[in-house]
Amino acid sequence: ADAELGDYRHFMEKEIFEQPAALENAMRGRFAEDGSTALFGGLNLTPAELRQVDRLVFLGCGTAWHACLVAEHLIERFARVPVEVDYASEFRYRNTPLDRDTLFFVMSQSGETIDTLGALREAKRKGFKVLAINNTVGSSIARESDGGIYQHVGPEIGVASTKAFTSQLLLGAIIALYIARMRDMSFNDGVEYVKAVKSAPALVRRVLEQAPRIREIAKRYAHYKDMLFLGRLSLFPIALEGALKLKEISYIHAEGYPAAEMKHGPIALVSPECPAVFFAPRGEIFNKLVSSIQEIKARHGKTIVITTEGCELPPGVADEIIYLPDCHEAVLPVVATIPVQLLSYYIAVERGCDVDKPRNLAKSVTVE
Ligand code: G6P
Repeated sequence: ADAELGDYRHFMEKEIFEQPAALENAMRGRFAEDGSTALFGGLNLTPAELRQVDRLVFLGCGTAWHACLVAEHLIERFARVPVEVDYASEFRYRNTPLDRDTLFFVMSQSGETIDTLGALREAKRKGFKVLAINNTVGSSIARESDGGIYQHVGPEIGVASTKAFTSQLLLGAIIALYIARMRDMSFNDGVEYVKAVKSAPALVRRVLEQAPRIREIAKRYAHYKDMLFLGRLSLFPIALEGALKLKEISYIHAEGYPAAEMKHGPIALVSPECPAVFFAPRGEIFNKLVSSIQEIKARHGKTIVITTEGCELPPGVADEIIYLPDCHEAVLPVVATIPVQLLSYYIAVERGCDVDKPRNLAKSVTVE
């Protein structure tokens, strides 16, 4: 296995840097010839059937659940179909009231997570169609679902998910496009959206080029015991993902929160001992995000701000700044994930942690 590592120290590092190629693989063949919409061969659902659907439910666990939350945001934003997201393990026992015209998606890299498989079986028992977004051909979830989409990113070895996650985000964005173009997204908006999705690998490459700088930042933050990750809208789930990555591989306690909710509780944690990673991309609520950062600075918290190239932050609000290339909303979550993957990876390395095999965790959890 070490031979497969090449020049990398860990599989997680290799898989982070492999993401431009992984994203290419995930979207290969997924676009229609007219360049304005998507193609999904394996859904086993006619366009007419899909147009009937008036509600979607996305289920998953761990990192996949975060990808479900991003899919919810993009589908509601662009396709205007209500989406509900649940932890597979909760859905299974919750007995949610469901309308007939509901379609289920289960998200699972391995296709073997028992909670997700149990949720799939429960939805099928109740007569619903269940589609899977899955990275493992022939897995239990692939076999038992009614159809789906393979991620095609190759095996992921590092326990902390990286390329599987970003490819799930990209596929969620493409599903949003597919449904949107059956409803009220225009041809021109579709063309622009497709171009944006196709640019994801190049955008990710540009963030990866900043790895040496992010590594320097990581060295300065590796000794903390607590950290906050804050973001809004489609980057709230990425804040959750950043916090999860850091917990998983560095054992630093971290919490992800919607930035504006901070004042309703977590702000009590802010002190010089608890830095915050902040997503503040260009957009309508940029100024609101900046005021949330200022609330942290006023309490002497250190801030690592992830913003968009060309955005000006008031002096003194950011102790560290990481720039993302400007991009379409559909790919922003993918692009914004890269710095928090690198940050948690380098922090864990700095702390001497066993990055690829963190304590107490399994790559796929096949017991309840
Ligand atoms: C485990 C892994 C996580 C993963 C989750 C769901 O807990 O450690 O990294 O996100 O399972 O896995 P799945 O294979 O269903 O995506």
